[in-house]
Amino acid sequence: MKFFLDTANLDEIKAGAALGIVDGITTNPSLVAKEGKDFKTLVAQICEIIPGPVSAEVVSTTCDEMMKEARTLSKIAPNIIVKLPTIPEGVKALKICTAEGIKTNLTLIFQPLQALIVAKSGATFCSPFLGRLDDIGQDGMALIHDIRHIYDNYGFKTEILAASLRHPMHVVEAAKAGADVGTMPFSVFKMLLNHPLTDIGLEKFLADWKKLQA
Ligand code: E4P
Repeated sequence: MKFFLDTANLDEIKAGAALGIVDGITTNPSLVAKEGKDFKTLVAQICEIIPGPVSAEVVSTTCDEMMKEARTLSKIAPNIIVKLPTIPEGVKALKICTAEGIKTNLTLIFQPLQALIVAKSGATFCSPFLGRLDDIGQDGMALIHDIRHIYDNYGFKTEILAASLRHPMHVVEAAKAGADVGTMPFSVFKMLLNHPLTDIGLEKFLADWKKLQA
């Protein structure tokens, strides 16, 4: 499973990149707004740090307007993925993007049929939001299982990008369910390698080694 960071913060992106295990970035209008910087400049900076896919989201709600944004965004860097909302106008725009060779990430997916439709329309990534389903008492992980099953039935190449991951167990379960990508905030990413027994074990190894030197 690929690891994407779900952030538009350059410090977090640089710190993640330094570890060498960040395969891509997802942003959304809320994350970009938090940074208070010019959108296109920020996205270009992110693309320079991370060579993998970088999702940048449109903010229009009609196909024509989305396409204007999609064409502009896709010219920022070769690794830009245009993020479109999974609404009827977004699906119309998706078909045009697919025809024009613009890579896409269909966002705000909450049920399997949305995922099926965007795969049929050539989406590069589909983004089911697990955490937000869990928040309203639904089973977010079941959605990943359903989408994996459907995509495998038909051999769709659209990658399942498990989004809205809130803790490391979401990442583990998404990997077991066969998600192609997990995108997570930096706070979750930092926890991926942590285990108290690793720290305790290392401390003991080093203490024993010191004894030998003495
Ligand atoms: C993914 O592309 C989204 O930006 C993100 O995962 C949403 O997460 P949230 O529900 O924690 O805002």
